[in-house]
Amino acid sequence: MSPIAQIQALDVPTAIAQRRSIKTFKSDPIAPELLKQLVELTVAAPSSFNIQDWQIILVQDEAQKAALAAASWNQQQIVQAPVTFVFAANPNAGEQDLTPIFEQALQTGAWNDKTVDYFKSAIPQFQGGLGDKRREYAIKDAIIAATHLVLAAESLGLSTCFMNGWIEEKVKEVIGAADNPDLAIAVLVPVGYAAEPRLNPGRLPFSYNVSVDRIGNPYQG
Ligand SMILES: Cc1cc2nc3c(=O)[nH]c(=O)nc-3n(C[C@H](O)[C@H](O)[C@H](O)COP(=O)(O)O)c2cc1C
Repeated sequence: MSPIAQIQALDVPTAIAQRRSIKTFKSDPIAPELLKQLVELTVAAPSSFNIQDWQIILVQDEAQKAALAAASWNQQQIVQAPVTFVFAANPNAGEQDLTPIFEQALQTGAWNDKTVDYFKSAIPQFQGGLGDKRREYAIKDAIIAATHLVLAAESLGLSTCFMNGWIEEKVKEVIGAADNPDLAIAVLVPVGYAAEPRLNPGRLPFSYNVSVDRIGNPYQG
């Protein structure tokens, strides 16, 4: 039986409730089929116009992990975990060749010729119109994909930690993107088997930051 078949996946609410940001990982490897399943579930994430404007780099090599940790204020999760997903975002993806995306959607039947013809002009127009916000929009898509990874990993018995503590230019050097000025780093996510239990630091009551209709009208639950 494959390692994946042995895993009793957690349902989504349980995975959400149980997930913690893990700071210490075992060096145990992730089985290749399980890693592939994680990648599949990560890229199953939605994106604006389905442009899939992320670049996901699985950093596994020991020297690469050490360099990535050095770019991340020496946070040791990256060295310990067998793999760290670097989520980068391409702000120019919507203005590049979208033929493979159109062809797939035509093949599945999700989009028809009329939809594709519309998108051929609408996507570059919308993306171009974003101007300075293109980077922000691309990062949103990458973060949604990272969230899929984190919850899928939890569901499949692994642990993670979203990481914002890194220097963008240094991370880009490590992943070989130093010559790509527009590529943005969205978030880093080490994935592996937890070497520590971690408690939930808690969440504010809804009254702090959940409103109904307008800010300041607190949601009572
Ligand atoms: C976008 C983001 C960036 C984060 N960056 C780091 C980081 O660089 N290093 C770290 O140890 N934890 C990082 N964290 C983890 C947070 O400290 C943690 O999510 C928070 O304390 C809540 O704990 P929980 O995730 O266990 O619920 C980050 C979390 C998020 C969502």
